[in-house]
Amino acid sequence: MRAGAALDAPRAASVDAGATTVVVDASGKRLVWDLPLRAFHWLFAASILASWATATAGFNWMQWHIRLGKWMIGLLSFRVIWGFVGPRHARFTSFLSGPRTMWRYAKGLTGRGEPVHTVGHNPLGGVMVIIMLLLVAFQVSTGLFATDDIAWQGPYYPAVSSATAHYLTRLHHLNFNLIWAAIALHVGAIAYYDFIKRQHLVPAMVTGWKPAEAVPEGQAIKSSELVKALIVMVVCVGIVYAVLSGAPHVSPTSLNFD
Ligand code: HEM
Ligand code: HEM
Repeated sequence: MRAGAALDAPRAASVDAGATTVVVDASGKRLVWDLPLRAFHWLFAASILASWATATAGFNWMQWHIRLGKWMIGLLSFRVIWGFVGPRHARFTSFLSGPRTMWRYAKGLTGRGEPVHTVGHNPLGGVMVIIMLLLVAFQVSTGLFATDDIAWQGPYYPAVSSATAHYLTRLHHLNFNLIWAAIALHVGAIAYYDFIKRQHLVPAMVTGWKPAEAVPEGQAIKSSELVKALIVMVVCVGIVYAVLSGAPHVSPTSLNFD
């Protein structure tokens, strides 16, 4: 048993299944979602809701809104890097497919073709992951230049003209509607799988484990690769630092309170 797997379920054991070693717990479940990916998911969801709450709660909460935005830079960087170096089902190459595969999957989903089963994200869910990451990246990027016209500004606000900052602030507001729409679609899709397709996806996003019948041998991941995740986290702290330290420095007297 690997170090990361031990944290996911203390009852887990390694089983040699011929060419590959798969991690199976006492009840025959197999590990699919690594711990860092699951932690990312729930932190990402909570941070988006907290960003909305702090932005709408009034002037005094704006400081927390901006702090959360900076934290979000780290969170997004983590998921992007993890998409290249993380375990199998976290990798972009494992869940991004061409339009033909997506179409075949969609047909199977609506009963007009052969049903296609996937262990990780399905072809449509995979595109949705990228859309959500891009929408939030755009939200953070525009936030860096945004202004509330009173006292709070993103760190890069002084780098652009007042007109540009106002335009980006408008986009910051408008884009959040798209984020709401994406969240509604995402949660709606999860509910559709749960109630209509009888596929319960949520427990695996909490525990990491899926029933062995749903995970062919050799498609389970061996561990959560926690040491690697720790190294990626350190890199992400560096990225946040680099982004913020590139912001123009302004003395309080030169702030624009127009
Ligand atoms: C470094 C990142 C960010 C910075 C510096 C930032 C900054 C700002 C500022 C200055 C405003 C005030 C604009 C105004 O009053 O018109 C604002 C509003 C807002 N921000 Fe951000 N933001 C960031 C990231 C985010 C993120 C990640 C989200 C959500 C995912 C978000 C959601 C919102 C929303 C919904 C509003 C509008 C609130 C309202 O007036 O109803 N922001 N942000
Ligand atoms: C603000 C709200 C949410 C956002 C932004 C969000 C975003 C995401 C993202 C980005 C992924 C892909 C994970 C990855 O590969 O990194 C994902 C997957 C998933 N999310 Fe959410 N999520 C939200 C809320 C929820 C809620 C409330 C639930 C449960 C009711 C949920 C259940 C799931 C499940 C089960 C998956 C895995 C789907 C699969 O098996 O392919 N999410 N979500």
